[in-house]
Amino acid sequence: MKYRTKLDSGLRDAAASENKSLPIHRWVPWIAGFSAQFVEDAIRKYLPADRRARHLILDPFAGVGTTLIEGIKAGHGVVGYEINPFAALVARAKIDCVEVSPSELRAEVDAFRIAMQRLESEVDKCYSADPNADLLTVEDLAKARPENFKSRIPFFSPPIEAKFLYALIRTSALLEPDRSLFRAALGATMVSYSNYTYEPSLASRPGSGKALIENAAVGPTICRKLEEMLTDIEWARQTYGYNWLAQSRDIRQTSYFEADLEEGSVSLVVTSPPYMNNYHYVRNTRPQLHWLGLITNGGGNRLERASFGKFWQTVRQGERVDLDVDLPGLAESVGQLRAKHPEKRQYGGAGWANYVATYLNDSFRFTKSLRRHLAVGGHAVIVIGNSIIQGIEFPVDRLLAQMSEQNGLHVEDIHIVRTKRVGNSIIDSSVRNGDVNGHRGKTQLYDAAVVLRR
Ligand SMILES: C[S@@+](CC[C@H](N)C(=O)[O-])C[C@H]1O[C@@H](n2cnc3c(N)ncnc32)[C@H](O)[C@@H]1O
Repeated sequence: MKYRTKLDSGLRDAAASENKSLPIHRWVPWIAGFSAQFVEDAIRKYLPADRRARHLILDPFAGVGTTLIEGIKAGHGVVGYEINPFAALVARAKIDCVEVSPSELRAEVDAFRIAMQRLESEVDKCYSADPNADLLTVEDLAKARPENFKSRIPFFSPPIEAKFLYALIRTSALLEPDRSLFRAALGATMVSYSNYTYEPSLASRPGSGKALIENAAVGPTICRKLEEMLTDIEWARQTYGYNWLAQSRDIRQTSYFEADLEEGSVSLVVTSPPYMNNYHYVRNTRPQLHWLGLITNGGGNRLERASFGKFWQTVRQGERVDLDVDLPGLAESVGQLRAKHPEKRQYGGAGWANYVATYLNDSFRFTKSLRRHLAVGGHAVIVIGNSIIQGIEFPVDRLLAQMSEQNGLHVEDIHIVRTKRVGNSIIDSSVRNGDVNGHRGKTQLYDAAVVLRR
């Protein structure tokens, strides 16, 4: 079946970059899929404005909570699923932020700032006198170091590690909900004073042509983030106050495939699943997961296997994965991909075909669950992009639409919400090499909003 794609959707650009300047959304950067304004428009368009009618909004891949926050602001109940413990921690801190007492948080931030100033000046003194001094003996900091975190080059330089571990120990002593806010602030800032950088995948600074960071002011950076949070919490309390607190709001740190939501309970889904571009949410948050103690030994592997689409690195060398879904031309495309570069074994077409089949099988399961959870007449707005893998285009938006129809959902529209140049993508070039369907340069990467109705 062919779908009409529309350009004028009434939905603002799905790019997430505007989130960087919006209250609450700006706390932690994340590869988000869409902006808060996009979600606001989707809620206005697909949910009746009548405030007396409360609706439940679901985001099955909630990330750091863009949909959840916009749903609460619009006066609706929200529920999210997010498998990554760091993203789930941030989303939880955001949806519960109105419960925080600004005066108590202010006192804690002030106490933290003073303690950090004292520690930092000690560390800086020791380090400038003897750059080889063992700074981790101060206050038994070494005990807070994560056991199973390994990186190619030291993640933090010695003085920064001492400062960060001290901040971590102080944060652990706080009570909720403030503790989560402090941990979110540490997680949001830690890469900025580390020897790693987001490009947007996590890479070492020297590997990205940047200098190592030998020393830095850690406390002031964390405090700036906390001040930003405090300002936004005060704004949310003044603007939404009781209405915010009255909404049912939940984020579940588990896979959406495990969701035990009531059948037909959801009026609107606004979501963006991981794209078929192998952006590795788990590896890219290893620093936060390990240093904040959010993952135990072996937990990373479990997370990778339970993630939507798993990852190329997880499935490339396992048993051959076949499609569970039957769509016109799809088996042929996957077969073509599998036949590419057999000499490269799992690094050639065979490994990528395993990834694509796993991803599309999960997409099929996803549309099945949507059908179960949506109320009759309810809508789902799914932002997703096409992918080009080893020169073969997979129009994931249209494939998802076809799968949805197979599972009993009606496809209302597919809007192209953003086009981007080939080469401007986060996909590593090795994923895309080769002519695109034999027409180099003619196929563009785009983001689409697939609108479904039950
Ligand atoms: C494109 S991001 C969504 C970001 C979100 N729109 C936001 O504004 O923050 C996709 C998210 O899906 C999460 N994810 C992957 N597999 C999942 C699963 N099986 N269940 C729930 N979440 C999952 C990833 O950790 C990632 O945060």
